[in-house]
Amino acid sequence: MNEQTFIAIKPDAVQRGLIGAIISRFEVKGYTLRAMKLIVPSRQLAEEHYAEHKGKPFFEPLVSFLTSGPVCAMIWEGKEVVKTGRVMLGATNPLASAPGTIRGDYGVDVGRNVCHGSDSVESAKREIALWFEPSEVLSFERTMQPWLYE
Ligand code: RTP
Ligand code: MG
Repeated sequence: MNEQTFIAIKPDAVQRGLIGAIISRFEVKGYTLRAMKLIVPSRQLAEEHYAEHKGKPFFEPLVSFLTSGPVCAMIWEGKEVVKTGRVMLGATNPLASAPGTIRGDYGVDVGRNVCHGSDSVESAKREIALWFEPSEVLSFERTMQPWLYE
């Protein structure tokens, strides 16, 4: 239940005023926000974040896009939040994402797909360490536990 994932609202969605709508989906689902900041990522941070894609044709445009404006970087916590977060995001290509998913509801273009989510527990740990200092991650009790988890 204390699994964590890294979710980043990308510059397109920040510009389009979708921060609140995206945060709301994770909140109402029952996940807990552990850290959040608005940050314009440096080129180095963006390249490290997407290091697995280095050398692919979309790598340069992807890094340029991610560094083009503020990103809302967050850590969300809860049961199977990595896998479920990806389901909530939808497919990489918004046109292939089901309605009801974040990308399916808010996006059109694969290079403007609104929101990032870690693709595995290992990736989540790596990305959280990359984007946040330990002191930026808060641990606090919420009283919702018995109303959410049996
Ligand atoms: P993300 O990492 O941003 O959450 O996206 P993802 O896991 O769904 O997709 P990934 O394969 O990690 O790709 C990272 C980002 O690169 C862009 N992309 N463009 N033109 C293309 O074929 C292509 N493929 C990927 C997307 O913006 C994707 O989010
Ligand atoms: Mg990815």
